[in-house]
Amino acid sequence: MDQYYVIGNPIAHSKSPQIHARFAELTGQALHYERLRVEPGELVATLRSFCARGVRGCNVTVPYKLEAFELADEASARAQLALAANTLRFESGRILADNTDGVGLVRDIEINAGQPLQGRDVLLLGGGGAAAGALGPLLLAGPRRLVLANRTPAKAEAMAQRHRQHASLQAALARTELQVRPLDEHLPACDVVINATSGSLSGAGVPLAARALKPGALVYDMMYGPAADPFLQWAQAHGARGRDGLGMLVEQAAEAFFLWRGVRPPAGPALEALRQGL
Ligand code: ATR
Repeated sequence: MDQYYVIGNPIAHSKSPQIHARFAELTGQALHYERLRVEPGELVATLRSFCARGVRGCNVTVPYKLEAFELADEASARAQLALAANTLRFESGRILADNTDGVGLVRDIEINAGQPLQGRDVLLLGGGGAAAGALGPLLLAGPRRLVLANRTPAKAEAMAQRHRQHASLQAALARTELQVRPLDEHLPACDVVINATSGSLSGAGVPLAARALKPGALVYDMMYGPAADPFLQWAQAHGARGRDGLGMLVEQAAEAFFLWRGVRPPAGPALEALRQGL
């Protein structure tokens, strides 16, 4: 049976095996998918052994997304923009890197939450790996304005500059105004606000004024479970619709499944099962 893995460290918490098992069931695909904890310094050896054993692909999670991108023989435009890979394919001993996180976010917002992005004003909070994975796919969704706001604006500016220079985004950037701003109280009102900071992990609030929320705005936290609660509760208290990142998790997996198998599984049943388990 075709073999796939999710690799990271720690890895025991990963919900990916459950999601991919459901996708395989739903699409009638025969595959086996499991977790593998990779010890520090062992990524190259792990990927070599995958190639040698005929493993078909793997998902990559913290802390190996950047290193996996750097080790790959080829990378999609999405991975090049993110400087990170969350999905690898192995073909004839070569490692092909992709990044499905941003597309997963966009699909969850547009399809599952029913919030179009085209022509809207979008605020993306953060300047680390999570924001980097999202920026390219968000630009391709055609917002009117995309404001990238980070505590350290220089990091966000470097990320924006990399995107401005990438050939695959030239048409998108001709229609979307991409701005970089410090993360403070003076951000413009937006239709969609996405938290890609890790502030909630340290218990810090996000310094955002309610005026950044247009009436009825969708406020999205890429985290899920208790980590997403403070930001989403703040948003709901100010009249916004809150959504956690569980749908993004399922949609990034669906896109990886599609890359590997050529079949797109429906996200709904896997998302419902995960919600019930939370
Ligand atoms: P990830 O891969 O989850 O994005 P990361 O690359 O370490 O993790 O990035 C964390 C992001 O959260 C950064 O944008 C960080 O801001 P800085 O670039 O200024 O470091 C942001 N962040 C972390 N704690 C924060 C806080 N308390 N308030 C605002 N932003 C915070």
